[in-house]
Amino acid sequence: MAPSTTTGILLPLLFATSSLAQNTTAPCAISTFSSLSGVEISTVEALQSRSTLLLPDLVPSCGGPNKNVTVSADICRLVANVRTSDSSSIRIEAWLPENWNNRFLATGTGGTGGCIDYSRLQGGAQLGFAAFGTNAGHDGSSGHEFFLNQPEVINDFGHRAIHVEAEVGKQITALFYGREASKSYYDGCSTGGRQALQEAAMYEDDFDGILAGAPGVDWLKIVASKAILARRIGWPGLNSSAYVRPEQWQAIVTKQIELLDGLDGKKDGILDSPQNICFDPALLACGTGVLEQDLCLHPDQVQSVEKAYQPLINGAGDIIYPPFIIGASTGVFSNNQKDGKPILNYSLVRDFWRGAVYNNSDWTENNFTLSDLDYALFINPGGVNSNSRDLSRFHKRGGKVLAYHGLVDTTVTPLLSMEFYKGVQAAVGLSLEEMQSFYRLFLVPGMDHCSTGPGAWNIGQVYPLDSKRLDAANNALLALVDWVESDKAPEFLTGAKYQNDSVSQPILAERRHCPYPSKSRWDGRENRNDARGWACGYV
Ligand SMILES: *[C@@H]1O[C@H](CO)[C@@H](O)[C@H](O)[C@H]1NC(C)=O
Ligand SMILES: *[C@@H]1O[C@H](CO)[C@@H](O)[C@H](O)[C@H]1NC(C)=O
Ligand SMILES: *[C@@H]1O[C@H](CO)[C@@H](O)[C@H](O)[C@H]1NC(C)=O
Ligand SMILES: *[C@@H]1O[C@H](CO)[C@@H](O)[C@H](O)[C@H]1NC(C)=O
Ligand SMILES: *[C@@H]1O[C@H](CO)[C@@H](O)[C@H](O)[C@H]1NC(C)=O
Ligand SMILES: *[C@@H]1O[C@H](CO)[C@@H](O)[C@H](O)[C@H]1NC(C)=O
Ligand SMILES: *[C@@H]1O[C@H](CO)[C@@H](O)[C@H](O)[C@H]1NC(C)=O
Repeated sequence: MAPSTTTGILLPLLFATSSLAQNTTAPCAISTFSSLSGVEISTVEALQSRSTLLLPDLVPSCGGPNKNVTVSADICRLVANVRTSDSSSIRIEAWLPENWNNRFLATGTGGTGGCIDYSRLQGGAQLGFAAFGTNAGHDGSSGHEFFLNQPEVINDFGHRAIHVEAEVGKQITALFYGREASKSYYDGCSTGGRQALQEAAMYEDDFDGILAGAPGVDWLKIVASKAILARRIGWPGLNSSAYVRPEQWQAIVTKQIELLDGLDGKKDGILDSPQNICFDPALLACGTGVLEQDLCLHPDQVQSVEKAYQPLINGAGDIIYPPFIIGASTGVFSNNQKDGKPILNYSLVRDFWRGAVYNNSDWTENNFTLSDLDYALFINPGGVNSNSRDLSRFHKRGGKVLAYHGLVDTTVTPLLSMEFYKGVQAAVGLSLEEMQSFYRLFLVPGMDHCSTGPGAWNIGQVYPLDSKRLDAANNALLALVDWVESDKAPEFLTGAKYQNDSVSQPILAERRHCPYPSKSRWDGRENRNDARGWACGYV
């Protein structure tokens, strides 16, 4: 439908047209959905495009209490609780556009879950998908109380919520539109990316196409790594000789970029291949004159910095989690004091170990060691550490995975996505060519966790969408649809960097991002900010 201020006039016209055709939607009323069992519906309402949806009851960590969300299409909105066990339920929310594209879309959550992803509901509904979100079984993306002594709530977050969302969501879609969706998709980032690949491994029939951003597979290791890296840099001994202060870390990363940026042919603030760069922190030692006197590294600190960029290794000497990336902000482990006390600003490790691992509100991460990680992996609360590389059933049924990962992701190291990709290839037993026909991973230089950063990161993963870039070359979800439905695998994705990261501002740079292990190369001739100057190849 044309986005115009005359929707009030257009709306009755549209209903008139569609009532002539066979494809009439059912009334946007509770009665339409009364045949669903185990589903307690709290809201069914018709909302017009560009109206504002008020969410007065949202918890603060989900953006509440008075979050306002712009409605992105003429929709029927449904909110319901779905029982998942005797002691748990998930909330799901549906945005069912009048102007349906015949497709179903489920979305995931971030962090410790608990917040409906309104940005992806907005984007999905605008593109015509019957779009669904879930709170994954509890409200809030920080805190631990919801997990205390609640194994079924942990099960919802750990592995069940998205599967239930998919099953019930498809039924809701069919009841409203009078027929089943032609294809089913999933879109999520971070924990949402974990949920994506977990679905592919466990519930291969839920989706035809899966869009997985910065996937948090090996979730417990990702979360634990922040405490382990903090301890490697002297924390919680804020006065110890090994401790590297937050302002020193800022200087270190700024200097890494300054020193290494030219390696890729141009100084533009973006390291094109940080995963291939070795960095010797001795360069920043006091005496070299590279860092100022109050920021330079003393001998024990040089060792701390070196250790911060090493992988996690278990007792047998195996790498269990790949290293943190050069040139990325280190705040997730280096912002670790509050009012002079050692407290990790990254609260997930505290929250999850308190609520789901140890069931103990007094636990702190100050003495975190690998044995805390080992114990968590051993009990694997709710199956949250889903890390199965065996996607053979999803592959066999013709499913597609489109994954993306920023190369300055501070929360999930992009090396994990590369390692996972190779792991899937080995587990399913595929050649690279076969792998590329079902799973493509796009690495995005200068993109942080899921979005933002200095690079050309916008591939349509956040709302609002740029109306000029709603096509398979520029929008990852539409690229996935093309792949699933027309067998056109994305050769590249074009990302955009907007002034102020705002789609209503001019585009400052566009760049082609390539399917791993190929890389985007600048031809050295075109304007570097023009996508046409970039091509995929094996360097
Ligand atoms: C209803 O939708 C289906 C799927 O898009 C389409 O094939 C069919 O032609 C439509 N029928 C009418 C009467 O519009
Ligand atoms: C949302 O809208 C309501 C009503 O217009 C207003 O009172 C409230 O302050 C808004 N909330 C935010 C966060 O802007
Ligand atoms: C969690 O801790 C509470 C209070 O100490 C205790 O009553 C409960 O049994 C524990 N639950 C689990 C699953 O360990
Ligand atoms: C660090 O030393 C300062 C004074 O030098 C002291 O005030 C502070 O309590 C010490 N902090 C810790 C965590 O030991
Ligand atoms: C602390 O964490 C919050 C929430 O994740 C984040 O918004 C903030 O930027 C962080 N602050 C610092 C100093 O890292
Ligand atoms: C944990 O570490 C702190 C220092 O940060 C220490 O004071 C405390 O005794 C330790 N607690 C445990 C349970 O080992
Ligand atoms: C970009 O954002 C900054 C800081 O929010 C603001 O000062 C500036 O005016 C914005 N520029 C434009 C062109 O909107």
